[in-house]
Amino acid sequence: MKTQVCIVGAGPAALLLGHLLRAEGVECVVIERQTPDYILGRIRAGVLEEITVSLMARLGLDARLRAEGLPHGGFNLADGERLIRIDIADLTGKQVVVYGQTELTRDLMAAREERGLEVVYEAADVALHEVESDAPYVTYTKDGSEHRVDARFVVGCDGFHGPSRKAIPERVAREYLREYPFGWLGILADVPPCNHELIYANHERGFALASMRSETRSRYYVDVPLTDRVEEWNDERLWDELAIRLGPEAAAHMTRGPSLEKSIAPLRSYVFAPMRHGSLLLCGDAAHIVPPTGAKGLNLAASDVHYAAEALTGFFRRNEPDRVAAYSDTALARVWKSERFSWSLTRLMHRFPEDGPFERAMQVAELDYIASSRAAQTAIAENYVGLPV
Ligand code: FAD
Ligand code: DHB
Repeated sequence: MKTQVCIVGAGPAALLLGHLLRAEGVECVVIERQTPDYILGRIRAGVLEEITVSLMARLGLDARLRAEGLPHGGFNLADGERLIRIDIADLTGKQVVVYGQTELTRDLMAAREERGLEVVYEAADVALHEVESDAPYVTYTKDGSEHRVDARFVVGCDGFHGPSRKAIPERVAREYLREYPFGWLGILADVPPCNHELIYANHERGFALASMRSETRSRYYVDVPLTDRVEEWNDERLWDELAIRLGPEAAAHMTRGPSLEKSIAPLRSYVFAPMRHGSLLLCGDAAHIVPPTGAKGLNLAASDVHYAAEALTGFFRRNEPDRVAAYSDTALARVWKSERFSWSLTRLMHRFPEDGPFERAMQVAELDYIASSRAAQTAIAENYVGLPV
């Protein structure tokens, strides 16, 4: 098969990019290892920045997002008894939208046929070849036979564990990694949220987050040692821990219910550079990971996709080949700012095992400063709502 752009992976980054390219008349094919149901079964991001919402709007695929998404004009930082509200609407004039990654992916999947976006699911042994040349290709096996897709560009949207990043030779690559000594244990349940806005809590027993997917579906997290296993956390133990860490006010409004999903995700900060080498571009988790504090991962994938779509449509439709060459630097400038924000909010809101009284005093002082300073709140709000693209 021959096409202009071969996209590896069919998560949110890949499908957004595929639809944006198709809308501009650029040919593309998407190659994914899993089934659609498997992808929709992964419970992940819940908070969308303006860039993500605006890409869905530009594609005309935002009808359900507008109808069912919950616009949030603020969120809260909790420290012991105190709740610090960050009024993002007042401080920035913008808001975020609570709408699950699962639903966004479902909307993008549903529009495949109507928009002529070809996605091959259940492709095994996906491999990238000749990415340093102008004629890269991707091979895979499906239903027992070998397939080959020839393209002018390959875009790796295959997440942290996919093969694309590994196709960039070590001699040109740089990796930046920070691992955190805990993971987030998440629970999804069909119960109303305990608060109409998100609460990120730093309690002496550890971090907790109260989030939601809708008025009737809640998403909560606590941080746990990396050695903990999900089986050690029955629902009752997790609800008890959430009630303690979120504090008496939130606990009083918390409805408990059976978990629909429960899993532990490790926290890491990771950046791979460059994000383009030869005819291969990387987007989303394939190139970088942020710790989830601050809800940046999916949104960062969306801003990469915005830059990649501009670069590739520039190349194919507007005779602007230089934008592809600039893609890595353009994308990385925004990536690093999101990495910084996610890292600093993680540092502020978690109890690190190696921390002593001094580090804790720094957290208290910083939270005090944020509580009393509009400037400090504005800095947090403009990062949370998303820096300009
Ligand atoms: P992925 O969603 O990982 O998609 C990659 C795709 O590539 C997958 O479908 C995978 O099957 C496929 N693939 C992998 N290997 C191969 C292969 N060999 N061949 C073919 N295909 C392959 N982000 C936010 O913005 N806000 C949040 O609130 C938030 N909360 C999160 C909570 C949790 C618990 C987790 C784990 C993440 C959270 N994130 C959040 C991060 C966010 O989910 C990711 O950043 C996002 O999924 C990145 O999208 P992606 O398309 O780049 O990668
Ligand atoms: C959710 C996840 C996050 O990482 C975050 O910062 C906020 C919300 C969520 O899954 O709802």
